[in-house]
Amino acid sequence: MALKEIENRDDVQKLVDTFYSNVQNDKVLGYIFNDIAKVDWERHLPKMYNFWDSLLLEGTYTGNAMQPHFRVNKLIPLEDAYFNRWLEIWESTVHSLFTGEKAELAIYRAKSIKEVMAFKINRINHPPQHNTDIPIVNPDKH
Ligand code: HEM
Repeated sequence: MALKEIENRDDVQKLVDTFYSNVQNDKVLGYIFNDIAKVDWERHLPKMYNFWDSLLLEGTYTGNAMQPHFRVNKLIPLEDAYFNRWLEIWESTVHSLFTGEKAELAIYRAKSIKEVMAFKINRINHPPQHNTDIPIVNPDKH
């Protein structure tokens, strides 16, 4: 089957549906989504159609993309390996279905958001240590 360009909402839905079906069948991530986060797919998928529609076409996603990940991170620490796997599945899903500028944009956007997300989650799981080389000045004590 020839690959096509991402042109409309149906294409976005197909991408998102295929991605989450791959995620659910994935040895690493399937367990997190289904058993730990217990995702309600009927609620989650339409949000993701809007999210990706907004990033690629003209959707109207208005949610907070970061929030649910803080919740999941409390149930299971979201280490880099999970984010990397997520991106790997996203990239292979996009390339299995689509080609062209929007397809590359979908990968590019996912990468940047994933980087920011992983960074924020990492700061929680592995807070930076104080640098003991720098003297801490307490203004109340002279
Ligand atoms: C380790 C990787 C990831 C895991 C385990 C994960 C897991 C989840 C879970 C469990 C939810 C909540 C679903 C629900 O019950 O409603 C969620 C929501 C969401 N995720 Fe992820 N996610 C990951 C990475 C990403 C990345 C990289 C992106 C963006 C590129 C992303 C975008 C979103 C968005 C937009 C929502 C919906 C937010 C809202 O409620 O409006 N996720 N994710």
